[in-house]
Amino acid sequence: MIVCSCNIITRRAIEETIEQILAEDPYAVLTPGRIYHRLGRRAKCGGCIPQVVRIMVEHGEKVRARLQAEAEAERKVVVVERELEVVFLERF
Ligand code: FES
Repeated sequence: MIVCSCNIITRRAIEETIEQILAEDPYAVLTPGRIYHRLGRRAKCGGCIPQVVRIMVEHGEKVRARLQAEAEAERKVVVVERELEVVFLERF
């Protein structure tokens, strides 16, 4: 679905850009300007901005939740590995 008709930017392109930005920095501040800049475009009429903001909020939350769950899973793996290491060292 085309979100920005001036630049022919799709919802998927915006979502992928959000994913790229948050993969580099999960605490990055998302703004329409940042997304357009990443896409190598500039807003022209600005009519798409409210929809871009809505996508940023919705998709940004999903991506951040997924990244947080992945980080939590990674921490659990590290804890289990350390516990196994302690058990191993105690026995041998
Ligand atoms: S619709 Fe996006 S700048 Fe015009």
